[in-house]
Amino acid sequence: MCGIVGFTGNRPAAQILIDGLKRLEYRGYDSAGITLAGKELITVKAVGKVRNLEAAVNEHGTLPNTTGIAHTRWATHGAPSVKNAHPHMDSSGRFAVVHNGIIENYAELKQKLEQQGHKFVSDTDSEVIPNLIAEFYQGDFVQAVASALRRISGTYGIAVLCSDYPDTIIAARHGSPIVVGLGDDCNIVASDVTPLAAYTRKVIYLDDGDLAILSPKNVELRTIENLPVEREVSSIDWDVSASGKGSYEHFMLKEIFEQPDSIANTIRGRLDHHLKSAILSGLGLSPHELAKISRIVIAGCGTSLHAGMVGEYFFEDIASIPTEVEQAAEFRYRNPIIDPDTLVLPISQSGETADTLAAVREAMNKGAIVAALCNVVGSTIAREAGRGIYLHAGPEISVASTKAFTCQVTVLLMLALMLGRNRRLNRDDGERLMLEIEKLPELIRETLKQAPVIEKIAEKYAYAEDFFYIGRGCLYPTALEGALKLKEISYIHAEGYHAAELKHGPIALLDEKVPVLALANAIPGQEKMIGNIQECLARKSSVIAVVTGDDTAADQFTGDIIRVPPSSRFIAPLTTVVALQLFAYYFARARGCEIDHPRNLAKSVTVE
Ligand code: G6P
Repeated sequence: MCGIVGFTGNRPAAQILIDGLKRLEYRGYDSAGITLAGKELITVKAVGKVRNLEAAVNEHGTLPNTTGIAHTRWATHGAPSVKNAHPHMDSSGRFAVVHNGIIENYAELKQKLEQQGHKFVSDTDSEVIPNLIAEFYQGDFVQAVASALRRISGTYGIAVLCSDYPDTIIAARHGSPIVVGLGDDCNIVASDVTPLAAYTRKVIYLDDGDLAILSPKNVELRTIENLPVEREVSSIDWDVSASGKGSYEHFMLKEIFEQPDSIANTIRGRLDHHLKSAILSGLGLSPHELAKISRIVIAGCGTSLHAGMVGEYFFEDIASIPTEVEQAAEFRYRNPIIDPDTLVLPISQSGETADTLAAVREAMNKGAIVAALCNVVGSTIAREAGRGIYLHAGPEISVASTKAFTCQVTVLLMLALMLGRNRRLNRDDGERLMLEIEKLPELIRETLKQAPVIEKIAEKYAYAEDFFYIGRGCLYPTALEGALKLKEISYIHAEGYHAAELKHGPIALLDEKVPVLALANAIPGQEKMIGNIQECLARKSSVIAVVTGDDTAADQFTGDIIRVPPSSRFIAPLTTVVALQLFAYYFARARGCEIDHPRNLAKSVTVE
C-alpha cells in the first residue's frame, strides 16, 4: 500500500525513480510524485498513474540530479489530488518526505506544529513528518529525523531528503517495510525488493526502529535512538525478468498462465516418495511435535482467506484435525481460544497485510505454534512468525491475486498430506494424494487450454451487472474466490454463495438478468448441485456450468459449459479456480476495464 523508492548514485536519478515506481505501481496508483535533491529540492507530482508523473517530469527537460525519492499513493487521509500526493515538504521547503503507513497522533502533532508556525497544505497525516523534522533540525539531518520519529506513533516506512545534504537519503521503518539495496556506486531504497532487483542482488531489510543513511558510496544503519546497529545482508533470489509483463497484455493473464510453473516450484523437493508424505522443513516441527497439534486456526484476508477456507476442508478431511478459519481482522478482537497445541497458519501473499500481521502477533503472544504461508521472502509476517512455508510463486504483480492463491492451496494440501500421514492416513491413500499433487501442473496446463472457450462465454455474458457463483464442499470457497475475482476487476456485483444457501434469501434476486455460474464438478454433492441449478433455471437465470471432463450432467440445462480435467475433490478447487480466473479476466477485458490496476484497490494493504 503506497510504493516508495529512493536512489542516490552517480547518474541522473529521475528516470531510475520513475522506472522504480512503475514496478511498485501495484501497491497504489491514485497519484504519484518525485523530489530530486540539490540546493533547492525539485518536486513534481501528478494525479493518476505513474505515466502521468513521467510526462510531467519530462516537461522539465533533462534533470541532472543524482539523488531523489519518489512515491505512488493509495489514499488513506485525503482524496487523490496533487496537494495530497507525496513527497510532502515542510513549510520552509528544506525537507521532503515520502511515507507509507498511518501516523496515529498526527492531529495532535499538527496542532502543535501549527502553533509553532508551520503551515500545512495537504489533508494527509504524512505532512506532519517533514515539519516535525524541520522543528528538530539544528544542522544535523540524522539527529533531526531520529528525534522526530521518536515523537510519532503509528506506522511508517519513510524516505527523507534535506536540501543541505544533496546526496543523502534517510530511510526508516516502523511497521511498514523498507528494503535497502546495496549497489556499485549507487544505493537504492524501496518499500519492497521489486525496484531494487535491476540494480543489485544485495539487500538489507530494515527492522522496526531502524534508520538507514544512504549516500552513493555508503549505507550506515542506526536506530531511532541514533545508536549504530548492524543488519544481515540478504540476497534477492527473484529473476528480474519475472517481474516484467513479457508478451502478455496484462500481468494478470501472464500470472494465470504461469500457474503450471509456479505450482511446480511450490511442490519441488517437497514430496517424499518413500514416506508417501510431504516434507515442509520450514515448519521446523518434529513428527512428535506435529502429532501433538490438536487444532488448526487459519487467518488471512481477501484471496488468502479463501485459500484458508479451502484448507479447512483439507485438514479436517485428510488429517482429521479440527480447523477454523478466521478473517484476520477479527482474530485478535475475538479473543480466540489458543493453546500450546494449536497451530496457527497466517496466510499472506505479500507478508505485509496489517490485519494478518496483527493476528500473528496475537497468536504468538498466546503461545501458539505460528507458521506463516507467505510468498514474499523476508516479508514482515514471514520474519516475525519465524517458521513457515514459502510459496515460491515468484513475483505477483497483478492486484487481483491468481498464482499466489493456487500456490497457497497447494501448500495447504501438502501440509494436510503431511499431517494426515503423521496420523491416520495410510500409505496407499497418502500415495494417491501425493501422486495427484505431483500431477497438478499438468492438470492446470490442461485447464488453461480451455481459455478460448472461456473467453467466448465471458464475452457473451459481459452484459451482466450481477452474477452469482455457487459451489458446495471445497468448491464453495472456490465460488467465493471466483466471485471476488469478478468484482475486483470488472466492478460488477458478483456474489459467491453455498449452493444450498441460495434458497435461503439470495434466490429472491434471481431473474433473467442475473446469471449463475455453477460449479457442478463430478465430486461428492454433484447431484445436489444439479438440483440447485434447476432452482436457478426455474427463476429464469442463465447458467454457466463448470463440469469435469466430458461429463454430460449439465448438458440438459445449458450450452455454456467450461470443462476442467478429472480429479479428486481435493484437486478440483485448483483446476476450477483457474477457469474462474480466466472467466473474470476475459469478462473484465470485454467491458474495457483496467485489469492490472483496478480502481480503489491495492495489492498490499498495510493499514487495519
Ligand atoms: C489486498 C489484495 C488482495 C489480497 C489481500 C490479502 O486486498 O488486493 O488481492 O488477497 O490484500 O493480501 P495478502 O498479501 O495478505 O495475501
